[in-house]
Amino acid sequence: MTASIISGKEVAAELRQQIKEEVHALQDTLTPGLAVILVGDNTASRSYVKGKEKASKEAGIYSELTEMPSDITEETLLNKVEEYNHQDDIHGILVQLPLPDHISEKKVIERIAPQKDVDGFHPINIGRMMTGQEAFLPCTPFGILQMLKYKNIPLEGKHAVIVGRSNIVGKPVGQLLLNENATVTYCHSRTADLKHHTSQADIVIAATGKAEFIKQEHVKEGAAVIDVGMNRREDGTLCGDVDFEEVKEKTSFITPVPGGVGPMTITMLLYNTLQSAKKHAGVRNS
Ligand code: GUN
Repeated sequence: MTASIISGKEVAAELRQQIKEEVHALQDTLTPGLAVILVGDNTASRSYVKGKEKASKEAGIYSELTEMPSDITEETLLNKVEEYNHQDDIHGILVQLPLPDHISEKKVIERIAPQKDVDGFHPINIGRMMTGQEAFLPCTPFGILQMLKYKNIPLEGKHAVIVGRSNIVGKPVGQLLLNENATVTYCHSRTADLKHHTSQADIVIAATGKAEFIKQEHVKEGAAVIDVGMNRREDGTLCGDVDFEEVKEKTSFITPVPGGVGPMTITMLLYNTLQSAKKHAGVRNS
């Protein structure tokens, strides 16, 4: 079997068009606003932030970038977050992670007003997601769910194996799939016999951060494979956590890197910002 490729670019383009149309329709009421805070000069973070700004502009969302040097105090950053919490034209706040070691990510995330937490990282939003209540869903897991749904990949009663247990991706994507009535297994770096678990999965979500780590032997014939990785090979080229060339020969669906999960993450950030703005304006979803 050769896999059908799930193009995140294609799904993202369709969703972004819908978002843009909704933003346009709202223009007489308000313009959704997103504040992004970037601390330090991590190259990858800067590139992600630029992508978020560009996509916001294209969708008609106002975006404001605050750059801070890596030696700012935690207090200064907390005060900036607090300022955005109270700024009426800002409906979403995102503090790009990772932060320098002397700043507590936990404290910063907890300072973001939950109703502006468009990253979905605040414990209130995580708790609401876990209990199946309305919440901002973290963008990468939310984007993965959208891709699976776009391709009509069945979730209910299916076995999803998550490889990776980060707070940003692994843990929440498992929870979202559980909310969709999938049976979920979490694997991680201490799992004994990873292959035993992944080879039983109808859906594999690879979020390990290890280049081309998931091989053909890890997956079941006909499985759907979602690759969250963004790694560089020794020659500098980009690759995911899945060995795409060999795994695609055995699976039903697979996401490429680049052009898979990446474009969806930003799209769901735009979506969450729009939802937040609509809520602020008292506009109901139709
Ligand atoms: N760093 C890596 N991914 C993310 C993300 O989705 N949001 C934020 N704020 N930081 C990140």
